[in-house]
Amino acid sequence: MTSGTAAQKLNDEVSWDDFDPGAYISHNYLKMQAVDEEIVSRVRDHFSDHFRGGGRVASGIDVGAGPNLYPALAMLPWCDRITLLERSSRNLEYLRGQCADYDRHWDQFWDVLCRDEAYAELDVTPRVRFKEAVQQPEPGSLFDLCADTRRWDLGTMFFVAESITTSIDEFRRGVGCFMSVLNPGAPFAAAFMEHSQGYRVGEVDFPATREIDEAEVETALGDFTQDAKMYRLANPGDLVRDGYTGMILVCGRRKE
Ligand SMILES: C[S@@+](CC[C@H](N)C(=O)[O-])C[C@H]1O[C@@H](n2cnc3c(N)ncnc32)[C@H](O)[C@@H]1O
Repeated sequence: MTSGTAAQKLNDEVSWDDFDPGAYISHNYLKMQAVDEEIVSRVRDHFSDHFRGGGRVASGIDVGAGPNLYPALAMLPWCDRITLLERSSRNLEYLRGQCADYDRHWDQFWDVLCRDEAYAELDVTPRVRFKEAVQQPEPGSLFDLCADTRRWDLGTMFFVAESITTSIDEFRRGVGCFMSVLNPGAPFAAAFMEHSQGYRVGEVDFPATREIDEAEVETALGDFTQDAKMYRLANPGDLVRDGYTGMILVCGRRKE
């Protein structure tokens, strides 16, 4: 993400269908960045430590999936079905297009996951597993999850709650909605941009919540988590995603 100058904006005031998945991928995920390699490694180890020796659970969810497949790839060995929830029609179209045979540049992320044998020894190829697990990305909003009666056994939310609104109240509500649909004890991973000023995708500016730091993430996750570990990943300074001061990754479990 490059920095933008988004005005104060609530989630509903943004035209999410203007989000350009091609531009976003070119900037962030075509060539794996060191920070993403670290995130993928930590999430892999978190899920692997939790599930090793057990069977697969029924369901995982990646909220605000956008044009990023690595959260879903990290869930592949551990759950039968994966819901990719996304609000933008263009991102949904991109995700639908990836289901049959995802693009080669995602292989570098899978290679990092395969440093753990549970991934390396998957019974089918990751493309086959991705296709059978995801089936159909789901149109919808993070905020509607608060009223959703479904529950998932595993969850991820990467750069969403703080990157879809300037409002700290909406950020907190979004984090709560994500956590509310996880079953007790379900492992999760969530990543946040620290002090982001907003970001530009192609020619369009998108909002972010500037106040986000470790204390704010801890407050938002508050009573929902147990065994949570927080990692602060410094801005590598290579301007891959500028206009922010770092990233915050939390790996934990939904409180029993
Ligand atoms: C900064 S992108 C993050 C995408 C991806 N998770 C990643 O790791 O790169 C924010 C994503 O949230 C989506 N989004 C915006 N509002 C949303 C909402 N209310 N519910 C779910 N997704 C939303 C956007 O369309 C976009 O795909």
